[in-house]
Amino acid sequence: MPPSAAASPAPEPSSVVPEPSPVVPEPSPAVPAATPATAPGTSPAEPAVAAPTGIPGITAAPVTDLVDRFATRTDRMMASEIRALFAVASRPEVVSLAGGMPNLAALPLDTLAAEVAELIARDGQVALQYGSAQGVPLLREQITEVMAAEGIRAHADDVVVTVGSQMALDLVTRIFCDPGDIVLAEGPSYVGALGSFAAYQAQVVHVAMDDDGLIPAALTQALDQLAATGRRPKFLYTVPNFHNPAGVTLAVARRAEILELCRRHGVLVVEDNPYGLLGFDGQTYPALRSADPDNVIYLGSFSKTFASGLRVGWALASPAVRDKLVLAAESATLCPPTFNQMMVSRYLAAHDWRGQVKSFREVYRVRRDAMLSALSTYLPDGCRWTHPDGGFYVWLTVPEGVDTKAMLPRAVRARVAYASGTGFYADGLGSRQLRLSYCYPTPERITEGVRRLADVLNAELDVLHTFGTPKRAAARLVDGGARRGPQAPSPDTT
Ligand SMILES: Cc1ncc(COP(=O)(O)O)c(C=O)c1O
Repeated sequence: MPPSAAASPAPEPSSVVPEPSPVVPEPSPAVPAATPATAPGTSPAEPAVAAPTGIPGITAAPVTDLVDRFATRTDRMMASEIRALFAVASRPEVVSLAGGMPNLAALPLDTLAAEVAELIARDGQVALQYGSAQGVPLLREQITEVMAAEGIRAHADDVVVTVGSQMALDLVTRIFCDPGDIVLAEGPSYVGALGSFAAYQAQVVHVAMDDDGLIPAALTQALDQLAATGRRPKFLYTVPNFHNPAGVTLAVARRAEILELCRRHGVLVVEDNPYGLLGFDGQTYPALRSADPDNVIYLGSFSKTFASGLRVGWALASPAVRDKLVLAAESATLCPPTFNQMMVSRYLAAHDWRGQVKSFREVYRVRRDAMLSALSTYLPDGCRWTHPDGGFYVWLTVPEGVDTKAMLPRAVRARVAYASGTGFYADGLGSRQLRLSYCYPTPERITEGVRRLADVLNAELDVLHTFGTPKRAAARLVDGGARRGPQAPSPDTT
């Protein structure tokens, strides 16, 4: 059966006039400490002032009025901690180990510039026009070849091109989740996925991981517990390869067991795999989708293997799910950008994209080595971290008593930024964890950043050894104990 969208005509420009979007979103300002504290649901500290508009006699509604009018689903839409940090973390004096920006220095920009010019000159009438909601057919064919590297055999009819895999995540959640529905997700999980789940008011139940990825016994327990209360999760969301943020990979031996468990409990699997081709030894792992095409929705992206700014990703799904995804995509964007898709398509056809991925891998491997070496050189005792064999991230657990979110403003003051762990959990866990990205800075900057981080951690530990954990320190301040000074013996210092 031909895909529904391939048959659907391109939208009539006269019937739908897309409004220009209001430029690039500004990163939220500054570090959390510098932001005026406003509890969710309360009024902002600023007084509500009605602003004048361009129309004489009309003033805009005060912000407080608008707050009451937002849909309930926006209550849990919050700027990610990572986004909030962007403004400060991108200052040149700060070593940012926070963001997950791909390192594009290895891209052949001159060649790409020539490709863009040729694309416009030769195919401009098509490239600059609306297209199919499902995506450019040739690109969908090529995507099936990309996925073959991880053992996936698929038909181009089942591929839906999206605006990055982030949009695919949004669409999948939109078509499956009603408010209150349960989604299983690794703990920790990719912050953008948690954002989509929150936007559709899904409830996340985290499943623990270890160095071999998602733990089957923990998944069994979660599924059994939910079944005992008559609840069935809509899907399991998992990043099996080079996990963001945990930096671990799901052991091959666990894959069949996880698929079997989900099938037995009637739970779909959403496999999000943007980093799968970035294994440092060139190794790839068999995609979950390759073993269970009917029960797995696979998400892929060109963001980490080509250019994130083109915003081209995809979903691969069985026909019934695919059709719903296409309908949802159509209502969100009409169609993904034709120009960007054709650019990716030309790139895949005319360039050694596998060779390019290989050089990306090499860039990231050198940076991973710099980070692991700096961590073992500088970090204080009691820290643990993962050892990624691909991807962008190391997940660090700090000694008990250190709160990584509270420490972040002090780290930024010491000119190093990271992503604190709580942002990667929907349930408030992660205060002893943080994510370090090694993808973007040079190896020298990574080493310097880790050295600064170690200084901040040591200062934090000094305070803890002197005053105890924050709770105990507060208790001592209340009873005057802290005035006894650091020399007084205490259970926390022994
Ligand atoms: C696990 C994971 N999924 C999805 C995405 C979104 O990627 P894209 O740029 O394709 O939207 C990211 C981006 O960092 C990611 O790490």
